[in-house]
Amino acid sequence: MELRRLLPSGEPVSADDAHSGFAFADLAPDDRPYVVVDFVSSLDGRAAIAGRSAPLSNAADRRIFHLLRTQVDAVFAGTGTLRKERYGRIVRDPDLRERRAAAGLAEDPLALVVSRSGDVPWDIPLFDVSEQPVAVYTGAELRPPAVQADVSISQVSAERSLRDALRLARAEHGVRSVLCEGGPHVFGSLLADGLVDELFLCMAPLLAGGDTELGIAVGPALPEAARLELVHALESEDALFLRYRIAR
Ligand SMILES: NC(=O)c1ccc[n+]([C@@H]2O[C@H](COP(=O)([O-])OP(=O)(O)OC[C@H]3O[C@@H](n4cnc5c(N)ncnc54)[C@H](OP(=O)(O)O)[C@@H]3O)[C@@H](O)[C@H]2O)c1
Repeated sequence: MELRRLLPSGEPVSADDAHSGFAFADLAPDDRPYVVVDFVSSLDGRAAIAGRSAPLSNAADRRIFHLLRTQVDAVFAGTGTLRKERYGRIVRDPDLRERRAAAGLAEDPLALVVSRSGDVPWDIPLFDVSEQPVAVYTGAELRPPAVQADVSISQVSAERSLRDALRLARAEHGVRSVLCEGGPHVFGSLLADGLVDELFLCMAPLLAGGDTELGIAVGPALPEAARLELVHALESEDALFLRYRIAR
């Protein structure tokens, strides 16, 4: 799958070539993993149409979504997203698992789940796969049901849940790079806590209209707007694929 290279400009590049070898783990600060966020948005900033992100996506976005999962130690999605999108095994394609192994990563990335309420969607397919490691971070008392997945549970403080979860993922599981796949509440909280390093944003050539769907980041107001630097811009089927780094 070829993408037009807008910035830096150049010959078309395959989605696979443009999304490999990032070595995010090497960029991790001392006390937490390097955190990369991936979103697809309509041009008017909505994160879903009729409650799902799929109508915003195209073939290149889907490929990039799966390729980014080959680049990190752990994948994190909020309980709202896990529930709504019915998450299963994070890397289903054996070729992509092989690609991870060849890059020195575990075949299956750790799935990170953070819940303040303890209302974890235990019935989603993610928990049905014995090969899938899952680390749950919560401030609530949890009594998980028997599931196939290899689940660990750690306590975090309610006020510092995301920071604690990332710190513990590093300390307990050696996680040096995390891909956060949303949703808007988790992204907003990560931003407010200063825990985001990069954003991969697909701008879909659609206007969702209405005011029922969330923007890509919601929740607490930021003390000041986060400033980002554009690292690359690619295009396919009128969608833009933007890689931004948070300016520090
Ligand atoms: N366009 C995209 O790329 C994209 C990506 C992802 C999701 N989405 C869409 O976004 C919608 C879901 O959005 P959402 O914002 O409700 O879901 P979300 O951010 O995935 O999940 C929200 C939940 O995460 C937990 N959470 C949030 N902040 C937390 C914090 N600081 N500490 C601990 N836990 C925290 C809470 O769970 P507890 O209640 O368990 O405490 C909260 O209810 C869906 O329609 C989905 O399709 C779109």
